[in-house]
Amino acid sequence: MSSSSSPLWLWLWCFFIIAISPSVESRGDGDECWGRRIHIRKLPPRFNLDLLRNCSQFRPIYPSFCPHLANHGLGPTTHNRTLSWHRTDPSMLELLFHRRLLDYPCLTPDPLLADAIFLPYYSSLDALPFLFGPATNSSPFHGLPLFDHLTRIHRPDLWLRRGGHDHFLVMARPAWDFSQSPDAEPLVWGTSFLKLPQFYNVSALIIESRPTPYQEQAIPYPTSFHPSTPHLLHSWIRRVRRSRRTTLMLFAGGGGSIGSNPNIRRSIRLECNNGIDRANYDDDDDDDDNVYYEKVCEFVDCSGGVCEHDPIRYMRPMLETNFCLQPPGDTPTRRSTFDSFLAGCIPVFFEDLSARRQYGWHLPEEEYGEFSVTIAKEDVVWDGVRIVDVLRRIPEEEVRRMRERVIELMPRLIYRKHGVSSNVGWGGIKDAFDIAVEGVLERIRNRLLKFNYSA
Ligand SMILES: *[C@@H]1O[C@H](CO)[C@@H](O)[C@H](O)[C@H]1NC(C)=O
Ligand SMILES: *[C@@H]1O[C@H](CO)[C@@H](O)[C@H](O)[C@H]1NC(C)=O
Ligand SMILES: *[C@@H]1O[C@H](CO)[C@@H](O)[C@H](O)[C@H]1NC(C)=O
Repeated sequence: MSSSSSPLWLWLWCFFIIAISPSVESRGDGDECWGRRIHIRKLPPRFNLDLLRNCSQFRPIYPSFCPHLANHGLGPTTHNRTLSWHRTDPSMLELLFHRRLLDYPCLTPDPLLADAIFLPYYSSLDALPFLFGPATNSSPFHGLPLFDHLTRIHRPDLWLRRGGHDHFLVMARPAWDFSQSPDAEPLVWGTSFLKLPQFYNVSALIIESRPTPYQEQAIPYPTSFHPSTPHLLHSWIRRVRRSRRTTLMLFAGGGGSIGSNPNIRRSIRLECNNGIDRANYDDDDDDDDNVYYEKVCEFVDCSGGVCEHDPIRYMRPMLETNFCLQPPGDTPTRRSTFDSFLAGCIPVFFEDLSARRQYGWHLPEEEYGEFSVTIAKEDVVWDGVRIVDVLRRIPEEEVRRMRERVIELMPRLIYRKHGVSSNVGWGGIKDAFDIAVEGVLERIRNRLLKFNYSA
C-alpha cells in the first residue's frame, strides 16, 4: 500500500507506462480491432506524472490526494482481506481510466492507424492551481500549454490530420468547473477549458456534463467496488439480491441543514426526521403496506466529507433499503447514484439533470421508469408532496421488478479492476470503461464522417 511518504507506487507507475508496449494487433481478415484502434499519445510528464508527484502541493487549501493514488487510482483497499473494495476518490478517474486503457486489446503504437487518439492528460489535477490558487487569475489559460504541445511542439500532423476530432480525454470534475467564459469579468469559478475553441473538436468524457453538452459526454463516477474477476462480481450480486430490505428510503449526504433556505435537501432532512416516527405514517390510512418496514427513512449524515473514503458507512444501510434519494447539491449529479445501483437500492431523482440527461451511454434514457423514481423537486419543496407517500404507493411487486432491473444494470456502471486485457476474460460483461470506450469510438467515427475526414 502506498502513502505520501513512500513514492514507490510512483516509480512503479512510471516504469509501467514506459515499459508497456502496445500490443501488436492482428491484421487482415477477421481483424477484431477494425474500427476500434486507439493510440495513446505521448505527453511530457508535466501533463500527467508530475501532477501526481505534486499530490500534496496545494495543502491546506486543497487536501493532499497522495493516499488516493494507490493501486493506480483505485485507492487503498478498505481493509486487509478484501480484494474488491477500495477507498476510491472519484477525482482519480483520469488515472484509473488511463491504467485500464493500457489493458485495452486494440492499442496501436502507430498513430496513423488509430481510429481514436487518447490524451493521457490529468485535466482535473492540472486544474487545481486554477481552481484553488495560486493561478486563479489565469484560469482562462487552462489547457493552452497542452494545445501548444499538440499542435506545434510534437507531431502537429497528428492533430491536423483530422482537426483534432479523433482526440479524446477524461475529466474527473463536473463540467461546471471548466466552463467559465474566457472573458468573464470578474473571474467567477472554474477554468475555461471547455470554452476554448482550441478544444471544441476534442471529445471529453466527464463525470457531469453541462445541461447542453457540446464536446463532453458524461460517464459514471467511480464507486468503491472494483472486482478483479467475474466470480467476485457475481458473489456481490448474490449478496445484493439476498439482502433483506427493512428501510423504505435513505439519504446519504450532507447539506440542507434545517436552518437553510428551502431546498430539496432540506425538505428531505425534515421529512426524514419526522419519518423516524413511524406512527405518523401508519395512522394516515389503513393500508398496512409498510408494516414490512422497520424504518421509514434513514439519514446517513455525510457532512464534512466523512463518507467520501469510507464506503462501509453508507453501503451497509443502502443494502437494507429499497429507495435511495439522490437530490442535487452544488451540482446536479452525485457519486451516490452509482453507489445506490451497486447496493441494489432503487435511485430516486428530483430532476432529469441528475442522471437522465447525463449518462445516455450507460443507462437507457427511455427506461428510467423501470429502474428509478422521479419526483420533481419543486413539488416536494413548494407543493408539499411527501416523498414517503409517493414511494409507499408503489406496489411491492413493482419494487421487486425495479430492483431486478437496477441489479441488471449495475455491472455497466462499475469500473472493474485493471489487469484483464478484455471483457472476453470477463464472460463478455461490459463495465463502465468498456461502454465509455465503445461510445467514444462511435462518437469520433460520426464526427469524422460529418466533417469529411477520412476514417
Ligand atoms: C510541481 O511542483 C513543483 C514545485 O512546487 C513545481 O515547480 C512544478 O511546476 C509542479 N509541476 C506541475 C506539473 O504542477
Ligand atoms: C493490515 O496490514 C497492515 C500492513 O501490512 C498492518 O500494519 C495492519 O496491522 C493490518 N491490519 C489488520 C487489521 O490486520
Ligand atoms: C475543428 O474542426 C473544424 C472543422 O473540421 C476545423 O475547421 C478547425 O480548424 C478545428 N479546430 C482546431 C482547433 O483544430
